[in-house]
Amino acid sequence: MSKNYLNLLDHIAIIMDGNGRWATKRGLPRNVGHKAGVKAIEKTIDACLKYKIKYLTFFAFSTENWKRDEKEINGIFSLLRDYLHDNPYNFNEKGVSVKHIGDLNPFPEDLKNQLLKTEKETSKNKNITVTFALNYGGRDEVVRAINKVLKSDKKGITFDEFKKNLDTKFLPDPDLVIRTSGENRLSNFMLLQMAYSELYFPKVLWPDFNEKELLKALKVFSKRERRFGGIKK
Ligand code: FPP
Repeated sequence: MSKNYLNLLDHIAIIMDGNGRWATKRGLPRNVGHKAGVKAIEKTIDACLKYKIKYLTFFAFSTENWKRDEKEINGIFSLLRDYLHDNPYNFNEKGVSVKHIGDLNPFPEDLKNQLLKTEKETSKNKNITVTFALNYGGRDEVVRAINKVLKSDKKGITFDEFKKNLDTKFLPDPDLVIRTSGENRLSNFMLLQMAYSELYFPKVLWPDFNEKELLKALKVFSKRERRFGGIKK
């Protein structure tokens, strides 16, 4: 596989689906699946560092995930808070800058504060930007952006100006979007930003994702011809 196409791949966005099914198949509670999902996150960051991918974004909690049982929601929150606090992966040692997209307002204070602390403590790291989408929905993001614009005295706006009001203003658009577990949909994830992304839907459940699976995705990406609305030259 030629490595040249990696120069054209800045940002991979991942919908980590299948944690619940992974756990249920083993007769375990769903939150054990989310915990196993964190290991897959670490393996994926390691692989992206190896292949020098600069931006990696994970859909960790959607605006629709509030419909789940309180026990599962609180389990995800504790997992995230404890993980960021204990920092077993050591973001600074690996040169990982941690960021978030999404509206943090409805989250428990301790989780919000821990996330902001981690972001601040890792903000100077340059190897990769790892973004967690938390209470994130593409539609919610657009409405919040519109409301910001409405507060200004602008009479009209270009898309490039509008983009500066999105949560993703610090990110390039995703080049490759991966959703695991065989579901072929986007579920309200970065809808505007994915206008020209390449989509890849492997069957593997998220906790089983690893470097080998990432390489399969990179291989598929390398065979795609991206025209961005133009024609083949
Ligand atoms: C989707 O699988 C997974 C989620 C909605 C949660 C993902 C969250 C994490 C992996 C935890 C994030 C924590 C850290 C430390 C970054 P699903 O539950 O919808 O799976 P199913 O479709 O098989 O039920």
